[in-house]
Amino acid sequence: MRNTHQLYRERRNALLRSMRERGAGGLALLPTAPEVARNRDSLFPYRPDSYFHYLTGFPEPDAAMALVAGPDGDRHVLFCRDKNEEREIWDGFRYGPDAAREIFGFDEAYPISALGEKLPEFASDQPSLFTPLGLFEPWDRRITQLLNDVRDRARTGVSAPGEVVDVRVVLDAMRLVKDEHEIGLMRRAGAISSGAHRRAMERTRPGWFEYQVEAELLHEFLRNGAQAVAYPSIVASGPNACVLHYRDNDRELIDGELLLIDAGCEYRGYASDITRTFPVGGSFSGPQKDVYELVLASQLACLEAVRPGAAFNDYHRVAERVLAQGYIDLGLCSGTVDEVLENGSYKQFYMHRAGHWLGLDVHDAGLYQVHGVSQTLVPGMVLTVEPGTYIRPADNVPEHFWNVGVRIEDDVLVTATGHENLTAATPKTVAEVEAACVR
Ligand code: GLY
Ligand code: MN
Ligand code: MN
Repeated sequence: MRNTHQLYRERRNALLRSMRERGAGGLALLPTAPEVARNRDSLFPYRPDSYFHYLTGFPEPDAAMALVAGPDGDRHVLFCRDKNEEREIWDGFRYGPDAAREIFGFDEAYPISALGEKLPEFASDQPSLFTPLGLFEPWDRRITQLLNDVRDRARTGVSAPGEVVDVRVVLDAMRLVKDEHEIGLMRRAGAISSGAHRRAMERTRPGWFEYQVEAELLHEFLRNGAQAVAYPSIVASGPNACVLHYRDNDRELIDGELLLIDAGCEYRGYASDITRTFPVGGSFSGPQKDVYELVLASQLACLEAVRPGAAFNDYHRVAERVLAQGYIDLGLCSGTVDEVLENGSYKQFYMHRAGHWLGLDVHDAGLYQVHGVSQTLVPGMVLTVEPGTYIRPADNVPEHFWNVGVRIEDDVLVTATGHENLTAATPKTVAEVEAACVR
């Protein structure tokens, strides 16, 4: 098996190749994310920038990377914090440039304090500069300063890059198709999150508060080696299930209501994103089951539409059609399915897209349309499939459906022959869910 550092180096080589294919090569510069203060001396838990992580695997803050596609060949350069015995006593280990160069497969490494001195040298006489623009404001200023510094050297005979290209255009396309290493990590993330949803079903009981269920999820994430949640967990009971990005997680769970949980861990940088909905008391009521079975039918139909060669948009259309027909059958919408789709009356109950790309970011990098045409699915893409139905109290809605909110979400890898559901182990049918809830 390849060393992980070789894998990152191959990704950097792919970026270098695409820089050369565009023209005369150039310089790529990427910073990692800054540390962010929570209050006074406390920082938010640190997470490297996803693009930087994708290309380096280097975990520390205060780092940047330079790739030179020059006439004398390629150079992979890392800037990072120096070793510092005093700071390491307080805050923990730092690689320092020498060890970082070896371990992360760079040709050269320098202290981050040398960035200002080195960059004008790297940027001189480069036709193009590839860097993220608008990602971090201090970095944008640094890039402007760098270009000015090189221009100031004009009398020494050097020229500054004539164009600045947002490197994310290339990286987004690379990140859209996952390699085997990424897929392995995403399988693990999916498995851990799947276990957390099962644990929530097994333990939840009437009288608990939503935050107690959130604690069960987090317990399962962390005890299995996940580093964090991929996004704040949504634990939404009763009417809260109809709030798409519900955050408070502080309501008491009432027997007979539904609980919608949208939660996934981040495992070694990679997100998972699962939603399940189950009855607080362990048994669906008739109207709850009707809506649940409809959302499940639409989710299964969507999964069938995820295969290579299909358009990303296809499964969104499938979700709308199955749900619209279901709303007619349940007496929630009137007219033919084409009329309901055309007049948009189904949007009273289903108002979001059926999924998104998934990877290092929960709403991952990658275009959904290319020149106005839906992206074609190819093996290695990972996406979520997550139709739902949210029925708020309203005059045109039978009361037995009020506050029924259901979403079912899985993480799906496009394969050569169809798809692989990375979160298939999560209870999903009515029978599976009710069985998981039995105590
Ligand atoms: N959890 C965020 C989403 O489902 O898109
Ligand atoms: Mn999602
Ligand atoms: Mn989700």
